[in-house]
Amino acid sequence: MSKSLTAISPADGPIAVTGASGYIGSWVVHDCVEQGYTVRACVRDASNSNKVDHLLAMNNQGLRGSVELYEGDLFKPGSYDAAFKGCSGVIHTGATVGYNSETPQEVYDGCFTEVTHVLDSAIKGGTLKRFVFTSSFAAVGHPRPEGYVFTEKDWCGDNIEAYNGGWTENRIPEDRNTAYAMAKANTEKMIYQQAAENGTFDAMAILPLHVIGPIMCENHDQGMSWQNCMRYMMKGKQYKKTEGGRMLWNNTDVRDCGRAHRLCCESTIAKNGSRYILSAADRRGELYTWQMQEMMQKLYPQIPVMGGEEMDGDKPAQHTYEKPRSYCLLAKQELGLETYSIEDTIRATGDSYLALGLV
Ligand SMILES: NC(=O)c1ccc[n+]([C@@H]2O[C@H](COP(=O)([O-])OP(=O)(O)OC[C@H]3O[C@@H](n4cnc5c(N)ncnc54)[C@H](OP(=O)(O)O)[C@@H]3O)[C@@H](O)[C@H]2O)c1
Repeated sequence: MSKSLTAISPADGPIAVTGASGYIGSWVVHDCVEQGYTVRACVRDASNSNKVDHLLAMNNQGLRGSVELYEGDLFKPGSYDAAFKGCSGVIHTGATVGYNSETPQEVYDGCFTEVTHVLDSAIKGGTLKRFVFTSSFAAVGHPRPEGYVFTEKDWCGDNIEAYNGGWTENRIPEDRNTAYAMAKANTEKMIYQQAAENGTFDAMAILPLHVIGPIMCENHDQGMSWQNCMRYMMKGKQYKKTEGGRMLWNNTDVRDCGRAHRLCCESTIAKNGSRYILSAADRRGELYTWQMQEMMQKLYPQIPVMGGEEMDGDKPAQHTYEKPRSYCLLAKQELGLETYSIEDTIRATGDSYLALGLV
């Protein structure tokens, strides 16, 4: 199939977004509405005002497009049939994987079940040209020496000898990280294969690293998310997520992440199987926790104590690893993505927490 034949625009009809109430999904919806699309925002419960009011408010912001709410559950086959009927694009950001109580095997199997239901409904809709899946950098990362720069050519499970046999599919029932990473990688492959066999649409994936940026409502402050860690740093608490904060924060702005999904639908360069890492644009966006803390403190001098990592003089008490390193260069080159500066992103995140009274 010629790649340009499947690129879409608002003139091709509505576009649907699953997980529309979520942090990333909401910014996908916002960007599409801003660009003039009629967006079918798929949520679990359209009457839950805590999760949908910010979506409906987009209809009153003078944006060119509009939002319509549709209900759907990822675990019910056919749940998205009505929402996807007549859509030119489907953007699948919804997922139960995250910080819930499923077993690793359920995380893995659940991802396949969810994607299969969404893809089936999308194909059944009859007018699908583009399918964009929110995968994860987890589908890319694997053991490499510190400082190694990952690109879209990398897949988790590469360099298998460095895992001591640890990251084979046998590990899925025992280890949540393996289950999540392999679920994302293997569902990506399944989607590309189905698109290739079907021949009427192309599929792509967005692979975010640490997503931060403005939250639109309190529900976007999910426990243990990166934005939630920033909130606690603003409350003066030490950052705990990765054992003493020993990894880089390799940041992408949630607004860039939202825009990249829509650009995938419109790109005449992106083709079936194209995948785009959404991470720092350059080294300025890759920060150790103490650098993050320093930048946040500078932006918010009125906050007396900004949390961070334990220091020993002017050095972190624990070694901080040079990973994960990766840059969103392909998204910039092929999708034309222009990214926010790290200062803008941090400021917009903090401002949104302050505006909602959460700090
Ligand atoms: N945030 C990150 O740093 C990051 C990094 C890499 C990849 N990702 C990926 O990005 C995607 C979105 O993440 P997020 O951070 O935006 O998470 P989020 O805010 O928790 O959003 C998840 C969305 O999925 C929906 N959902 C959950 N279970 C559902 C079900 N059974 N049926 C229908 N909808 C369901 C939620 O709806 P309700 O509101 O009804 O719960 C919510 O809208 C996920 O696939 C995640 O793996 C995120």
